[in-house]
Amino acid sequence: METRTAECRPFGQLKRGDSVDCITLRNGALSASILTMGATLQGLVVPDRAGEPADIVLGHDDPQVYLDHACYLGSVVGRYANRIAGGRFSLDGQPCQVDVNNGPNSLHGGTGGFHQRIWQVAGLTADPVPQVTLCLDSPDGDQGFPGQLRASATYRLHEDRLELLLEAVSNAPTIVNLTGHAYFNLAGQAAGRDISGHHLEIAADSFLPVDATAIPSGPPQPVAGGWFDFTRPRRVGAGLEGGGDPQLALGHGYDHDFVLRAGRQPEPTFAARLSEPESGRVVEVWTTEPGLQFYTGNFLPDGLPGKGGATYGRRGGLCLEPQTHPDTPNRPEFPPCRLAPGQIYRHRILYRFSSDAGA
Ligand code: BGC
Repeated sequence: METRTAECRPFGQLKRGDSVDCITLRNGALSASILTMGATLQGLVVPDRAGEPADIVLGHDDPQVYLDHACYLGSVVGRYANRIAGGRFSLDGQPCQVDVNNGPNSLHGGTGGFHQRIWQVAGLTADPVPQVTLCLDSPDGDQGFPGQLRASATYRLHEDRLELLLEAVSNAPTIVNLTGHAYFNLAGQAAGRDISGHHLEIAADSFLPVDATAIPSGPPQPVAGGWFDFTRPRRVGAGLEGGGDPQLALGHGYDHDFVLRAGRQPEPTFAARLSEPESGRVVEVWTTEPGLQFYTGNFLPDGLPGKGGATYGRRGGLCLEPQTHPDTPNRPEFPPCRLAPGQIYRHRILYRFSSDAGA
């Protein structure tokens, strides 16, 4: 049997008329399914410590469900992942107003963000590494963002890791911040267990506290000694159940950006390690960007349809989204997100898989 394959097949049709395809990459024990809508990581099959495979990301079987519930399951989000306060910023002295879709703020590129678009398959190959490149043209003024932007998302499935390379070029000065919005549940998307039992380590000594609308409210706050201290692996549920922390109350759980120790780097560096004790599955996230949004699926609606008859609910999955810090266009103190014409925006993310021995 071929251990490395890459194939594209029809996935389904949206009420608005578009057809959505699904690309499946296989390499040894791993497989990844990617939709042309939103360049969405729809499935990711990884073995446990005994070699038993399970799909460890949340997703839907019907493409329309992605549009009916704006949970961004597995999608590439843009043009600006995370929030921009009031959807307003100024770029080179010019005021810009982008789509506001989350209380008073703009979230993940606005109402019709990149997660809802049909991306074009620009390259599909099984050899030497199964990979697909999807491209999206975003016109000048799209959701209020200046400049005509061409974005691409390349998924490469190696024997022990999935790489997501996000790139963009613009014909005029603009801002950009792209990330992958996978919700992980290492017990398996159909296991029916929430993510409280997962253990997490984050390579960050500080995080960004937020206001009631989830916009950073002040300078980075040290994590040492508190519920945000993931400098050593700790059970995610401890903080969720611990109560009393005003930041966890404001976020309805974890929904915060961590300031990664390594900062922005040309090559991916270690950002986080997530493990699930029962299955032994481990995923490490590596990134070239300076921030990591840790989100515990606080707003996932109960009864959300999943794959193969599974249903999800609050805390059914957790996101580790590497990115530029939230509201950077209004924060000169953060590493910038401006993209000049001729410049290439490039964000590389690695998801590395392994397993832990049992206790
Ligand atoms: C945000 C959450 C938001 C979620 C949408 C996350 O990246 O931080 O606040 O609810 O995306 O599913």
